[in-house]
Amino acid sequence: MLIKDLLIIILGLFVLLQIILRAIKKFRHTPAPSFIGRVLDSNFRKRLQPPDKVIQRSGIKEGMQVLEVGCGSGAFTTFAARAVGEKGKVYALDIQPKMLKQLENKLTKPQNKDIKNIELIKGSAHDLPFDKNSFDLVYMITVLQEIPDQNKALQEIKRVLKPGGILAVTEFLPDPDYPLKSTTIKIGRETGFVLNEASGNLWNYTVRFRKP
Ligand SMILES: C[S@@+](CC[C@H](N)C(=O)[O-])C[C@H]1O[C@@H](n2cnc3c(N)ncnc32)[C@H](O)[C@@H]1O
Repeated sequence: MLIKDLLIIILGLFVLLQIILRAIKKFRHTPAPSFIGRVLDSNFRKRLQPPDKVIQRSGIKEGMQVLEVGCGSGAFTTFAARAVGEKGKVYALDIQPKMLKQLENKLTKPQNKDIKNIELIKGSAHDLPFDKNSFDLVYMITVLQEIPDQNKALQEIKRVLKPGGILAVTEFLPDPDYPLKSTTIKIGRETGFVLNEASGNLWNYTVRFRKP
């Protein structure tokens, strides 16, 4: 009985927190604060949203030139770097220097010393500092809904992707910006991307699009 009560309380608190955060976000369109970088890169989250699965579903493969938009503290970046290997490269872009600093610190840790193929870039999704047709794949994890002008950002992503290149959008239910899979598919299609594959579940999904 006690466990059941506890579970109900935890679920109630989760729902309440979601309502409060979503209400705040309606009025204040700001990026996720940098202090949550530790939570984003925690082992607890990795258990709920395993990075290797997300990277695999996104279609990140050996030798690819990859752009991560909104890398945050880099919860997924090292996994992407290992997936593309020595012949590939990951450009990790974020609008907040404090998030990039956390990723930079992470890369100095002994377990990441072997990673040499990540470049950190401070920039905005609205105005990507890359030439057209630069990347095989662009991915975003719990980022798209945080970007004020999503259409502009997606047009920019389309510009920097090679023809036939992949855009992978991953969303995670505990994120207060979480949209339904159908919403993400609609946004991608409206900007001229072609749906390639939608995988995962309600809790944690990835939608892959192709640039025509
Ligand atoms: C919720 S965090 C997710 C970070 C990371 N993708 C993860 O899943 O751990 C969203 C990130 O997107 C970044 N961001 C928000 N708006 C952005 C924009 N317009 N251009 C680039 N990055 C942006 C924020 O600074 C933040 O680091």
